[in-house]
Amino acid sequence: MIEAKEQFKIWNLKKWEAKNKVMYEVNAENKWPWFFDELDPDVETYVKGLGPDIMDVLDLGTCSGSQAIEIARLGHRVVGTDVARSALLEAIKALKPYPELSLRFVLDDITRSKLEADSFDLIFDRGCYHSICCFQHGEYVSNIKRLLRLNGVLLLKVMSSDEDRYTSYEKVGDSAVQMPFHFTQEEIQDVMSPHFTVSSVEDSFFYSAVIDPPALARFAILRNDK
Ligand SMILES: C[S@@+](CC[C@H](N)C(=O)[O-])C[C@H]1O[C@@H](n2cnc3c(N)ncnc32)[C@H](O)[C@@H]1O
Repeated sequence: MIEAKEQFKIWNLKKWEAKNKVMYEVNAENKWPWFFDELDPDVETYVKGLGPDIMDVLDLGTCSGSQAIEIARLGHRVVGTDVARSALLEAIKALKPYPELSLRFVLDDITRSKLEADSFDLIFDRGCYHSICCFQHGEYVSNIKRLLRLNGVLLLKVMSSDEDRYTSYEKVGDSAVQMPFHFTQEEIQDVMSPHFTVSSVEDSFFYSAVIDPPALARFAILRNDK
């Protein structure tokens, strides 16, 4: 019998590849509801506020790559990773007009990342953790901590418990779990504070070029100093 985590890993990969196939192949103009070709204003303010030094940044769960491209356009060295090859093909297409950027896209699963340890000053996760946290919280945290330099920061954007749309319960093996998980501010504190200093958790949005009003989010700034 395959254990639940392994079932989830297989299920998660199939889910994203299948959804991307429908999304990108049926109509080339299709965009996911979270697609935003700018940085969310709170993310932009935070990243710009870090000053002029060039940082090594991981855009985790990069999907169509728009966030990775925007961070690279601020001058940073960026790696965008995703577990779905189909997403990375879109990201590579989106990068074509920007050959000058220091940005590469890599197929990588954050729960068993093959990227080198201590590689990043900043990891940005806009919508990955909330869909894998029910099964893979431990693997996620240990990989993030391995990849982040000491005092590096995880910028985490997850669905808010105040959002009553985008609630689906998915059955994986014998379990039915909410995906994406909708977080209260306290839940983020509880799950992340044993591993990171929680600098802030604010109410926010998944700003979107596709849906109006945008989905309600929580935006957490987590420092790797523990
Ligand atoms: C909601 S989308 C986020 C899109 C992107 N960050 C953005 O803001 O446009 C979540 C992405 O996480 C990816 N993903 C899911 N599980 C992952 C894992 N274990 N490792 C890396 N990426 C993963 C999915 O393939 C999907 O592209």
